[in-house]
Amino acid sequence: MATNRARVPPGPDGLPLVGHTLQLSRDVFGFYERLHADYGDVVRYEVNGDEGYIVAHPDLVEQVLVTDDAAFVKGDLLQRTLSSALGEGMLLAEGDDWRGQRTTAQPAFYRERVAAYGETMTAFAGDVAEGWTDGAVVDVRPAMSELTLRILGRTLFGLDIRGRESVVRDTAEALRTRTDPSSLTAFLPDWVPAPSVRAYRRAIEDARDLVDDLIAQRRAEREEATATSADEAVSRFAGGDDLLTMLVAAADAGGMDDATLRDNMLTFLFAGHETSALAVTYALFCLGHHPEAQARVHADLDALDAPPTADDVDDLPHLDRAVREAMRLYPPVYTHFREPVRDVTVGDYLIPEGSVVSLPQWLVHRDERWYDDPLAFAPERWVDWDGPEYAYFPFSGGPRHCIGMRFAELEIRLVLGTLLREWRVESLTDRPLDLDAAANTTPTDPVELRLHAR
Ligand code: HEM
Repeated sequence: MATNRARVPPGPDGLPLVGHTLQLSRDVFGFYERLHADYGDVVRYEVNGDEGYIVAHPDLVEQVLVTDDAAFVKGDLLQRTLSSALGEGMLLAEGDDWRGQRTTAQPAFYRERVAAYGETMTAFAGDVAEGWTDGAVVDVRPAMSELTLRILGRTLFGLDIRGRESVVRDTAEALRTRTDPSSLTAFLPDWVPAPSVRAYRRAIEDARDLVDDLIAQRRAEREEATATSADEAVSRFAGGDDLLTMLVAAADAGGMDDATLRDNMLTFLFAGHETSALAVTYALFCLGHHPEAQARVHADLDALDAPPTADDVDDLPHLDRAVREAMRLYPPVYTHFREPVRDVTVGDYLIPEGSVVSLPQWLVHRDERWYDDPLAFAPERWVDWDGPEYAYFPFSGGPRHCIGMRFAELEIRLVLGTLLREWRVESLTDRPLDLDAAANTTPTDPVELRLHAR
């Protein structure tokens, strides 16, 4: 609730009209860091005509995401940049529509179900480990992106995505450019006939065609299975075996229209693979610069008789801390946005209805009030860390936290565990890593590792 005592947050004066758009587009992280250093935990700025507020204190992040969650929606900024791709899928939907979609998809992410995906995660990571050669240099991000897409396709959609990755990859790249403030396209509406906007629209059309195909194929399989009544086939396709079947069944039962079904397929394809691939990439990059931390991870893995399974991940404490630490220092999602549906008091400050609220993991995860020597990669800090809960929120929090969190946590550990059991990696790319800020953080240059057989 807004109170009379709430003040307007401090912030810089923008240049007339363009506000801070140019500064932001040149260096997103620097822009955030400067505003936080100069003005504190709640800062007002103006970008491209939007009134923006950075909220960078863990307790206030918790207020926005959890305590006062009902006062916020995803908002107009996200709708403008992502809805032409992700439509009314789960990431952008609001209210009852969102709740219905989340409830439909949730069983695919129950603990036992996620654990059952572990076998595929380890097996596909094993294929990669086997394909690597001693002394070779790999550009690790595309390799991990292909791997996590394959895992997602198989576990959630029951299909082999090989041969079709390029459509997904082109669309992911177009989405990245579309949401990267340094490309300035991020600030253009979809109808502007700029080449990058046109490329983006074309890529989305191709991805929709792909997804429509997958849905049609699954519908045909379900119908056939029901018609023939083959027991095994019926239980596979009519009984809600994977996420795709759950969504198709919900649509066929009238609980979701076909457009929303397609939007959700696109949402899962794009929210569910690049993020995990980045987390694995960042962890390998960090471990490749810290041989002693990597040696501790190797010791965890050498205690196992075979590549790790879902049952082993709780017994790999050094791997666990290395993953946590890599996602602290290099969060795959660097901020998320919310829009207040009414005036809200956050801390001592008034944040008005309709503005853009930014909750930057990037700043909070690197704040020396919560982390000693925050720019250092130090996995062992997690042994006795007792900072505020929302000083660490790579998967967001509250009701809209990442539905794929458990999936991603397992996948990242099993992929890293399987690769590092066989290989020692040495980072050839300089630190700190240079990142672009789009919907996900993205390394500016290839992240190169030299491989050493163990
Ligand atoms: C390291 C990996 C991942 C990270 C860091 C991550 C991060 C996030 C964050 C921060 C959000 C909240 C966004 C917001 O509130 O604006 C989110 C939402 C979401 N994520 Fe993830 N994610 C990851 C992996 C995955 C995976 C593997 C899947 C699916 C298999 C997935 C599917 C989703 C979906 C559907 C949402 C929207 C949830 C909702 O609004 O109810 N994510 N993710």
